[in-house]
Amino acid sequence: MEEQLTDKHGRKHDYIRISVTDRCNLRCVYCMPEEGVEFEPEENILQAEEIREVVRVLAGMGIRKLRLTGGEPLLRKDLPELVAMLAAVPGIEDIGLTTNGIFLEKKAEALKLAGLTRINISLDSLREDRFRLITRGGDIRKVLASVDAALRAGLDPVKLNVVLVKGVNDDEIADFLKLTLDRKLNVRFIEYMPIGHSGKDWKSGYLPLEEVLRQAEALGLAVEPAGGITGNGPAENYRLQGAEGTFGLIHPVSDHFCQACNRLRLTADGYIKPCLYWSDEFHVRSSIGDDEALRILIRKALATKPENHEMALAMSDTGASHTPTVRRMSQI
Ligand code: GTP
Ligand code: 5AD
Ligand code: SF4
Repeated sequence: MEEQLTDKHGRKHDYIRISVTDRCNLRCVYCMPEEGVEFEPEENILQAEEIREVVRVLAGMGIRKLRLTGGEPLLRKDLPELVAMLAAVPGIEDIGLTTNGIFLEKKAEALKLAGLTRINISLDSLREDRFRLITRGGDIRKVLASVDAALRAGLDPVKLNVVLVKGVNDDEIADFLKLTLDRKLNVRFIEYMPIGHSGKDWKSGYLPLEEVLRQAEALGLAVEPAGGITGNGPAENYRLQGAEGTFGLIHPVSDHFCQACNRLRLTADGYIKPCLYWSDEFHVRSSIGDDEALRILIRKALATKPENHEMALAMSDTGASHTPTVRRMSQI
């Protein structure tokens, strides 16, 4: 019988998030410092064939769903080829992409044809000037054109990721909600996570998501729970009465969804990371080509997976039982 990747807390793992590059063309304020981060030398980044080999072994262990992330995955010129290679791995049923959307417009169709099934696009403001400030230079018109291109290409669902930061974009909640009225989008509001930040920076920007439901009700439309949105867990979804689209809440901090965590991660430089937040990681690159050695490393990574991330605890004076990762969000 085929192996099932189940950890000691009984969680079945069928999903891997693969960071295909640590580079990004933007430097969003909550993700990167102003001066940027040092990128890995090109030779440390996994090649498409290496990623395919790790995925092939993982698929034999029960992984069915992939998500390609970055940095910005579209900075890889070979992304459509990589998607096609991964779509051809027996057992892989679903391939998603998380992107900032700047370079997506012209690639959306090729990616869909290559086998991409779903797409999540980051968009933290609908105002041109503010978007430029948050992303330190991004052009929102390119992202909006990409959202249209993704819908036209038939990627379904198209999700928008809105990281809510207090005093930065929380006055746009109603505008984002209204966007769902006549567009088949799933707008997801995400709590700001303390990754790669000091506790002080993070606390002043953190906003719990109850505010979104309060503002949805203030629009005077009924809010209904929405089902049927393909995804991998963390979002809780709703629909404004009569709306084409839906909205979701992702609260990794206040109500962590670790008990249902089904995911592993592969970093661009070839480490398996069992948890987004903790520092444990396992270098698999040198074992590529030796399937049994890879399987042993993958099982070892799973065995160290914590029961939960203790994110809020790590930011408090009490401290958590593990060391938080030193990687920034863009490097995971
Ligand atoms: P699907 O459900 O497959 O659509 O994807 P997703 O929501 O997991 O992926 P996406 O890349 O769009 O991530 C959206 C947000 O989910 C991120 O900003 C994080 O806040 C959160 N998130 C994603 N993966 C993890 C994880 O492993 N742990 C935690 N705590 N949060 C995560
Ligand atoms: N907290 C929450 N989400 C974050 N992202 C990047 N940094 C953070 C953070 N500190 C989001 C991006 C992207 C998703 C993959 O992660 O906006 O949508
Ligand atoms: Fe780049 Fe995404 Fe980080 Fe923004 S949030 S700097 S788009 S990796």
